[in-house]
Amino acid sequence: MIKTFKTGKWTFGKNVYKEFNSHIEKSIPSYLKTQKLISELSTYFLREDSICYDIGFSTGTLLVKINNLNLEKKINFIGIEPELNMLKSFKRSKEFKKITLINKVVENIKMKKSDYIISHYTLQFIRQNLRLKILKKIYNSLNPGGGFVLFEKVYANNSRFEKIFSDMLVDFKSKNNFSEKEIINKNKAIRGILEPLTTRQNIINLKKAGFKNNQIIHQDINFIGILSIK
Ligand SMILES: C[S@@+](CC[C@H](N)C(=O)[O-])C[C@H]1O[C@@H](n2cnc3c(N)ncnc32)[C@H](O)[C@@H]1O
Repeated sequence: MIKTFKTGKWTFGKNVYKEFNSHIEKSIPSYLKTQKLISELSTYFLREDSICYDIGFSTGTLLVKINNLNLEKKINFIGIEPELNMLKSFKRSKEFKKITLINKVVENIKMKKSDYIISHYTLQFIRQNLRLKILKKIYNSLNPGGGFVLFEKVYANNSRFEKIFSDMLVDFKSKNNFSEKEIINKNKAIRGILEPLTTRQNIINLKKAGFKNNQIIHQDINFIGILSIK
């Protein structure tokens, strides 16, 4: 299990990369299923010479899956990840050379014209006052017809639903062998670091950024996915 962090001190740096894959699979309901969904959706948007961005590349598992479904096309994959240790843990396979890794936060990069952009549980870790600017940058980067996939932890519409979601998430984590202490510690560690919005607020932001076509493609407890097409 990932070591305990103090309140509000969660980080993806240090040695977190070592246990990242197993930790996230057990912490987010349907995590592997949604990676599969995002990979399958990519085939609708990626074509010869497309650029595909993964914002919050982490250990690279998602782009590897997307690459495997698009092997016959020449695609320029770009992984954005501020934590150097995460990038170092990425093992380039022979068939997966066409990837550029950018060791920066997304807010500090210029994005090229692209056809498919993913934020799979990353935007939630970025300060709320920066999110709209980032969404506008994503919108401007996409070619017309390009797809943006946004997955986020969300707050429910009211406190009654939020109580149910919170309880269900604790049950999910307990079933995955997290102890009560680990669950409480993680909740404290991500205070002020992971800041969810409601589904509605996310869609409002997508619209403000320019996206008129937004479709919810996934929900499992309080984790949702939206596909937006430019
Ligand atoms: C929950 S993980 C993403 C999981 C990954 N997309 C997947 O499918 O396995 C969030 C990642 O976003 C990265 N991150 C945090 N802030 C970021 C930022 N401002 N720009 C880009 N990436 C960021 C973190 O370092 C971390 O690796």
